[in-house]
Amino acid sequence: MRRRVLIGNWKMHKTAGEASRYIRDFLPLTQNIASIDIILAPPFTALHVVAESIKDTAIGLAGQNMHWNSHGAFTGEVSPAMLCDNGCQSVIIGHSERRQTFHEDDNTINRKVKAAIAHHLTAIMCVGETREERDTGKTSDVLSRQLAAGLAGIGTIDAKQLIIAYEPIWAIGSGTPATPTQASKVHIKLREHLGTLFTTSTAESIQIIYGGSITAENIQSLLAMPHVDGGLVGGACLDPHNFGTIVSSATN
Ligand code: 13P
Repeated sequence: MRRRVLIGNWKMHKTAGEASRYIRDFLPLTQNIASIDIILAPPFTALHVVAESIKDTAIGLAGQNMHWNSHGAFTGEVSPAMLCDNGCQSVIIGHSERRQTFHEDDNTINRKVKAAIAHHLTAIMCVGETREERDTGKTSDVLSRQLAAGLAGIGTIDAKQLIIAYEPIWAIGSGTPATPTQASKVHIKLREHLGTLFTTSTAESIQIIYGGSITAENIQSLLAMPHVDGGLVGGACLDPHNFGTIVSSATN
């Protein structure tokens, strides 16, 4: 049985002070929630303060990105070891904003996934198609390529350190989420493909979560689909009360 997980991706929002106030408001809303995993992904500069504030809770901490090298002359980058040192257990890799705005390709993403696993971080690897790719019938090809290339060379044993996030680019920040049926169809295909990359039972154990315009109103219908194992929430997680409502809707 796969556990469900909700991840709040703060993107480039919140100073350390704002992060601290967020946690103060968020913790009371989630302290009795045990049936779902909650992970927060603040910006690098707020990781430390968030790690301190959640250390006695079950809430997990994720980086939003990282370099694949453990150290070196890479101005502006953050290493896997630095994420671990700041309390992270996981890291988002290959978000479409990284792919599109910062030109990360499948090869880069593959290096990062491998580096995350080598540092015992769970790699939350994002895949997703553009509106044009969907409209021209390329969704399946695009996602298969992203999945196979991003996970090239990852062994079955390491697959337990993976979460796959399906984030259709047209749904991100648009207010138009994938319908539960659309998400479910893709998740089933992704799981089939994971079965060919690993084994069927390994594929069954990997969490595949959905992201793109998740709200407190639509989370329940998305999670009602058997292959949707959670959500990667952007805009709607920025307010602690709103994210708290999403978490409680997901557990009802
Ligand atoms: P929104 O929830 O704002 O659409 O963002 C989704 C996302 O990109 C999460 O990583």
